[in-house]
Amino acid sequence: MTTKRRSVDEVWVAEPENWTDGPPHELFRELRSECPVHWSGGMSEWPEEAGYWSLTRAEDIQSVSRDWRTYSSFLGGITISRYGAPLEMVRQEFIAMDPPRHDRIKALFQAGFTPRRIAEQEPAVRAIVTRVLDKLDGRERCDLVTEVAKPVVGRVIGTFVGIPEEDDQDWADLINATMGFEDEEMRDGRDMDALLAGVVERSQQLVDARREQPAEDLASTLVHAEVEGGRLSDEEILSGIQLLMEAGLDSTKAVYCSGMRALMENPDQRKLLLDDPSLIPSAVEESLRMFPAFSHMRRTATCDTELAGQKIKKGDKVVMWYPSSGRDEAVYEDPDRFDVTRNPDHQAFGAGGRHFCLGFALARLELNVLLEETLKRYPEMEIDGEPLMAESTFINQLKTLPVKLGPRGS
Ligand code: HEM
Repeated sequence: MTTKRRSVDEVWVAEPENWTDGPPHELFRELRSECPVHWSGGMSEWPEEAGYWSLTRAEDIQSVSRDWRTYSSFLGGITISRYGAPLEMVRQEFIAMDPPRHDRIKALFQAGFTPRRIAEQEPAVRAIVTRVLDKLDGRERCDLVTEVAKPVVGRVIGTFVGIPEEDDQDWADLINATMGFEDEEMRDGRDMDALLAGVVERSQQLVDARREQPAEDLASTLVHAEVEGGRLSDEEILSGIQLLMEAGLDSTKAVYCSGMRALMENPDQRKLLLDDPSLIPSAVEESLRMFPAFSHMRRTATCDTELAGQKIKKGDKVVMWYPSSGRDEAVYEDPDRFDVTRNPDHQAFGAGGRHFCLGFALARLELNVLLEETLKRYPEMEIDGEPLMAESTFINQLKTLPVKLGPRGS
């Protein structure tokens, strides 16, 4: 019996059936070669959502990322579906604004994220990582997602923003559930309104505390910042805090865990790093290329236009799939091979343009220190159970990675 080959024209890319174990790499490969700017007619889980264009090649994603006049982040927000979060709320975050408002607000945050200021954080980040790894002493096994990555990224971003350490766990649970809303287990029966109300309440408590007593953290900077002679509104401050917590809690964690999984699955590559730790920065970039933390960002066309021969209409949704551009054979040789010596350029932080990731230097620092310290401490760590991916078209992350730690190294 022959099975009928499904034509790529009929596929709806973001359907959950395509994403049961992470991004659909085979489908992306077909799309890159047969239909790189592809139309999906709708979303079966969100019937009120319109259809969308899928961009799968690095070149087209770069063109769209750098042209905010034609491709807006504000009109429809930055995700393929709003997953239940109201557009007015999404638009309070500067990731979902267009210039000039976007640029004014981002500039306020940028002062805290210059590469120099981030480099100064290295001892603090290393101390956080070491402290978390120390807690594994005497253990044989652990879950790398929940017991290493989660507490590390929570404390790093928590310190930056000004969250008290005892609140790290609650923040992580709330944000992981909103970001992983498509995954029933991560959502754990809660609805989006309740989750968002929890985030707003916690952010408001922090803002109130910093109004009374400023500290050396981003919450204080935002509360007291002047933009064009005025202060930021409460909504803008709360949304800024929320955006940083979302980006900080659900990104680095994802890349670290997928990178560690790849190293355990490719012992020859791990050996290269153990023999020559100066390759770790290259391994970090390779992990970002192959396992970008976010599967997509979305834009909305502001006018009728054309992209790679396809006519895009004003108001159309345009989705940039980073797991696909990271494996674009026009850019990378043997793109599915994990190669720690490759040191690639990639689009995991965005493909340039106004919305390029604010936290890229912090994320790189965290990833380098995490890989370095984990490999040094547990050079023979092994996967010990089934790693499970979050069911999501937005966050590209493992929700569990059980490991056997093996003998302690230095
Ligand atoms: C491995 C880690 C990370 C990855 C892969 C990542 C990826 C991204 C991507 C793809 C974008 C959107 C780019 C675009 O639309 O063109 C973005 C934006 C952003 N990221 Fe990250 N990110 C990471 C870590 C972080 C961290 C740690 C922070 C904060 C501390 C952060 C803060 C932000 C912010 C605030 C934006 C919005 C920028 C804007 O709209 O101008 N990110 N990130």
